[in-house]
Amino acid sequence: MQQPAGPLERGLQAIEVLARTGAGLRPADLARETGLARSSVDRIVTTLVRLGYLRWAGREVVLAPHLMELGNAYLAGIGMTDALAAHATGLADTLEESVSLAVPDRCDVRFISQSPRRRTMSVAFRVGDLLPAERCAPGALFAADWEPARWQARPGSGGLAVRAAAAREDGWALDDQLVEPGLIAVAVPVRHPDGTSACALSVVSHTSRHSIESLRRQALPAMLDCAARMAALLAGPRAAGSPAEGPALDRSRAAKEALGPEFLQSLDRGLAVLHALGSVPGGRTLSEAAAVTGLPRATARRAVLSLEQLGYVAAGGRRFVLLPRVLDLGYAALSGSSFEEVARPHLVRLVTDVRDSASMSVLDGTDIRYVVRIPTVRIMRVEITVGTRFPAYATSMGRVLLAGLPREQAAARLAATDVRTLTSFTRTGPREILAALAAAAEEGFALVDQELEEGLRSLSVPVRARDGRVVAAINVASHAGRSTPAETLERLLPALRATAAAIEADLAVRTEHNPLPAA
Ligand code: PHB
Repeated sequence: MQQPAGPLERGLQAIEVLARTGAGLRPADLARETGLARSSVDRIVTTLVRLGYLRWAGREVVLAPHLMELGNAYLAGIGMTDALAAHATGLADTLEESVSLAVPDRCDVRFISQSPRRRTMSVAFRVGDLLPAERCAPGALFAADWEPARWQARPGSGGLAVRAAAAREDGWALDDQLVEPGLIAVAVPVRHPDGTSACALSVVSHTSRHSIESLRRQALPAMLDCAARMAALLAGPRAAGSPAEGPALDRSRAAKEALGPEFLQSLDRGLAVLHALGSVPGGRTLSEAAAVTGLPRATARRAVLSLEQLGYVAAGGRRFVLLPRVLDLGYAALSGSSFEEVARPHLVRLVTDVRDSASMSVLDGTDIRYVVRIPTVRIMRVEITVGTRFPAYATSMGRVLLAGLPREQAAARLAATDVRTLTSFTRTGPREILAALAAAAEEGFALVDQELEEGLRSLSVPVRARDGRVVAAINVASHAGRSTPAETLERLLPALRATAAAIEADLAVRTEHNPLPAA
């Protein structure tokens, strides 16, 4: 029986529409695109913004990186571990070709991992993208497992039937320019212990480098070896779902109390249940889902049944698992986002709060290079844009970046630097600079007062990746004449630290199953 659409269904629909649009939408446009009442859209937006899944960009709402935690839960649930991804990356390195992993999704193929190697290809599917089974190598492998009745009515299924039969026979499948001219691929199955395909491992190349036959000959042995290792990982012992994961509180209570009728508690609870069903290999039982979310069992059960009906969840015995369709909830749209895109909104907010310019830089040799710049008034002599470089030793961002390196590496970079007196304040003695780096490492910030330019003071903190490495620095630049260094610290350091923490949290979700493209 069709249940009347509740807030959970409407909220998921709004997320999918935003994901498909691939850009921000005003609430009025979101109402038009979803066919939902404006008042309903407003409550959905309020709820999802509160959860950190959407954010305001001017008058539009956009997907926020935190939303990727839903797709991450699905990927963790199917056993997509760092170890598995490392095998795919290793194969890409060995063959010097792009490698992807895909899973069957109804009668289509869903990409769950990409290790791109060559940049000559025009097509690179994002993690989360869906491709018709007829048009790619993995489709033929999966169709070999599918009931013919499931897909034979589809256009183009005749060719797929032939390719599926060949894949069953051969144990591999080919894509000779089915997606687009020039693009070729070989796929092999990664099998469950019962022999069905858990996922497909593909190597993708181009006719300018290989014929489909030469690609198959060259890649297949290493691919079969890699697929066997992956199958062993998937079949290995897994941590089963366990309710004992810290105190489970119904997180929706506080938000409901704060926001009242504008907050859709059942949408929040449904999303909490969805997240809880993933996260651990093998899914969870209803009781476990209830325990993990702090919800009454009946509430968790209602959410699970809705999610099942909507195609995000399937029952496997007493356990419920997430389905690949969860990746439609913004994962593909967000999985291609760059580090700069992740950081920029947080720096915009910082600039709004402190009313001074803020930036993000990375270390590039002995220089820092600006990758994000949010200006207010100009206080530098030179115009700073993305791409601007300054010597690391004389800048606060450079000092936190150098301080994040192992000591010998920082010393080596300094030794390779042409250290000059840029202002009467510039520290140029190697010992002095090393002492400043040690202080930056110890205190977690660097304040540089007029060493790069007279009148300019800059305060920086590091931004760390999931593994703790310093991957960037963010700063706020202010007039030295306006306040003392101590006042600058007091005014700016808490806001700067909070901004770095927010960027780090988004970056951790963004990269959990999906590395950033190499800079
Ligand atoms: C890809 O990963 O981009 C890919 C894989 C298999 C295909 C086509 C494209 O058949």
